[in-house]
Amino acid sequence: MKLHELLGIKYPLIQGGMANIATGEFAAAVSNTGALGMIGAGGMSADMLREQIQICKQHTQMPFGVNLMLMNPDTDKMAEIVIEEQVPVVTTGAGNPGKYMKQWKSAGIKVFPVVASVGLARRMERLGADGVIAEGCESGGHVGETTTMVLVPQVADAVNIPVIAAGGIASGRQMVAAEVLGACGVQVGTCLLSTTECPIHENYKQAVRNARDTHITVMGRIAGTPVRVIKNDMVREYIAREKEGATLMELEHYTLGSLRRAVKEGDIETGSVMAGQTAAMIHDECSLAERIETLFTEYETVLKELCR
Ligand SMILES: Cc1cc2nc3c(=O)[nH]c(=O)nc-3n(C[C@H](O)[C@H](O)[C@H](O)COP(=O)(O)O)c2cc1C
Repeated sequence: MKLHELLGIKYPLIQGGMANIATGEFAAAVSNTGALGMIGAGGMSADMLREQIQICKQHTQMPFGVNLMLMNPDTDKMAEIVIEEQVPVVTTGAGNPGKYMKQWKSAGIKVFPVVASVGLARRMERLGADGVIAEGCESGGHVGETTTMVLVPQVADAVNIPVIAAGGIASGRQMVAAEVLGACGVQVGTCLLSTTECPIHENYKQAVRNARDTHITVMGRIAGTPVRVIKNDMVREYIAREKEGATLMELEHYTLGSLRRAVKEGDIETGSVMAGQTAAMIHDECSLAERIETLFTEYETVLKELCR
């Protein structure tokens, strides 16, 4: 994998932006391990983002990035802030970053849009993206339709820019698989939730550790906003109401502020415990450095075994 050379970091691993979770301090802690930490600007205002970038800079000398969710009403201001604050890397989700691309590129920012389809990957290459993050639907948070196994090789064949694989990666074996599929690096989110530095409530971390394969599902498919979560009372009720044909307004009653409730208050029954399918592979809490070093030790071991 070569992504680390492109980004000037030790490990070819990006920490996925996670709204309401990935603060400046968390991103800095990830960057200090040698991977690339990302501030998740999804749930922030422009002022909050500037503050978090400054906090991140106070805690690390290493490169870091900002994940912008383009449906955020403050995106225009945030697009300026990442330039003013000389943020080295921007990843984007939930939309088309086309209108910002020229200004970011002339400011020397490396841009990696998250894509869930081949068509979007091609469009991002034409716009001048430095690479694309091909995210399969195994991932936590908002999901597309295609799995990582099927998406990554198609995107790798379709574009001539670096492809980073995301979704369903939490072990060295899966990292080797991602490389074989055509990825030059990986982006992970779920496997970093149960780490000492992750600023989520202890109940959330425990829910991730306790999750088994059948406990993780997608809600919001009918409503058109599919999100991967760990099942709880709220999710079961939401899906039942969705099937009965509840209106979007009625469904919003369940989801409004639900991620914050789980993250901050530890309400894992009515809150939204967003996590990917790899939650079923995480059984412990450890430091970020331990989690990331273990991934790469496993990766090296698996590669050696394969080459024997
Ligand atoms: C709790 C949670 C919140 C997330 N929020 C965002 C977000 O705000 N923006 C984004 O682009 N991706 C978001 N993601 C996706 C991650 O950035 C990353 O691509 C994904 O977690 C990788 O797949 P994995 O969960 O299987 O490791 C989120 C993922 C999780 C688990």
